[in-house]
Amino acid sequence: MEKKSITINYQILLSDELNQIQKKIVNSSLSALKSSYSPYSKFKVGASVLLNNGKIVSASNQENISFPSGLCAERIALFASGSSYPSKKILSLAISTEYNFKSDDIIITPCGGCRQVMIEYEKKQGTKIEVLIRNFNKKILKFESVEDLIPFPFDVDLSKNF
Ligand code: THU
Repeated sequence: MEKKSITINYQILLSDELNQIQKKIVNSSLSALKSSYSPYSKFKVGASVLLNNGKIVSASNQENISFPSGLCAERIALFASGSSYPSKKILSLAISTEYNFKSDDIIITPCGGCRQVMIEYEKKQGTKIEVLIRNFNKKILKFESVEDLIPFPFDVDLSKNF
């Protein structure tokens, strides 16, 4: 038997420890959640993607009465930036959430499906994507690479068998 382990790294920052660009995209994600269509969960999510041409593409979660038909804010923002700016690199992704929790001592991180989409864009572009997650206590979780959020993703070269 061989035992293995993976270490992931992240930081917890106060909002005044963010640089100007980080503040801008975190604030963009916070504004984006206002357009959340979440009548079923009442859980609002905003996501903003910063590209290397300076553009910020933002989105919010969109739900549907046929529950699986809805989509997370992160994926809408990533797919929109991939569709509109396919040749641009993603520098950062900021995520904010809003919900009527009784305590603000709660950490929310992206779902597995969104992490899988993030890691593919990171691998495709060959450079790291910084992920900034605004917590309910206003502190920011900072991941320097998507690999720290999904260190063991699904990844296979299907062309090898054809
Ligand atoms: N949601 C996101 O937008 N991003 C995530 O990473 C997880 C969950 C949305 C989906 C749904 O509209 C609501 O949050 C509750 O799951």
